[in-house]
Amino acid sequence: MKSSENLRAYKNGRKIVSITAYDYFSARYAAQAEVDFILVGDSLGCVIKGEKDTKNVTIEEVAYHTRCVRKGAPHMLIAADLPINTYRTKDDALKNSKILIQAGADLVKPEGYCHEVIECLIQNGFRVIGHLGFTAQHFDSPRVLGKNNESYNEIIAHAKSLDSLGIEVLILECIVESLAATLTKQVGALTIGIGAGAACDGQILVFHDVLGFDVGFKPRFLKKYRNMEKEMIDGIKEYRDEVINGEFPKKEYTY
Ligand code: KIV
Repeated sequence: MKSSENLRAYKNGRKIVSITAYDYFSARYAAQAEVDFILVGDSLGCVIKGEKDTKNVTIEEVAYHTRCVRKGAPHMLIAADLPINTYRTKDDALKNSKILIQAGADLVKPEGYCHEVIECLIQNGFRVIGHLGFTAQHFDSPRVLGKNNESYNEIIAHAKSLDSLGIEVLILECIVESLAATLTKQVGALTIGIGAGAACDGQILVFHDVLGFDVGFKPRFLKKYRNMEKEMIDGIKEYRDEVINGEFPKKEYTY
């Protein structure tokens, strides 16, 4: 999808595919593989910075990674996360969203039910993605939501309320499948699931997870399409062995 396209126009069409990316190369690969849009997620706290969660990610870090991603995917639609504590007030949300847009994002994504902030962003011309269900900025450990009536009804009410503001996409993370299916029928925004089942309008996964950078990371919702951990370690080991035993560099690599 191109930067200017409104994602709501894709409702009721084919499934939409999204992936996170954090740098020039991951964005280039996502663009060449023809995914529909990229998210510069605050999951960069875990997969780039090696932290246990996303709670120390800053706006400067997301802006830096957004600039790198924009270079790798100059024409693609790119969304960027507003990290924790960057949209506590409407003024903060406006100031920090502007930073992400200037860095190259087309849309911004705060997490959770922040109705007033999202309303203010949309009224001021920002394009917004909502994110409900398990949101790493607000919970300490992963969990599945919508299992009981209270949680189910709360997510429905929050989703409808954000949808009425004009969000283009609603990310649904780790919620029961029946809730995601119901919501997908009831909102005009595209529902993009991660651990929310097949009924969503599309899916999103983290770049490093899809490609198997960490063999030990195995949430139930994750299908790994490659084992890059093994590929990369094997490649580096071969290089190391060839240097030690004098096989590299041979004549062909020498001036
Ligand atoms: O930060 C992130 O990567 C995300 C996705 C999990 C949706 O928010």
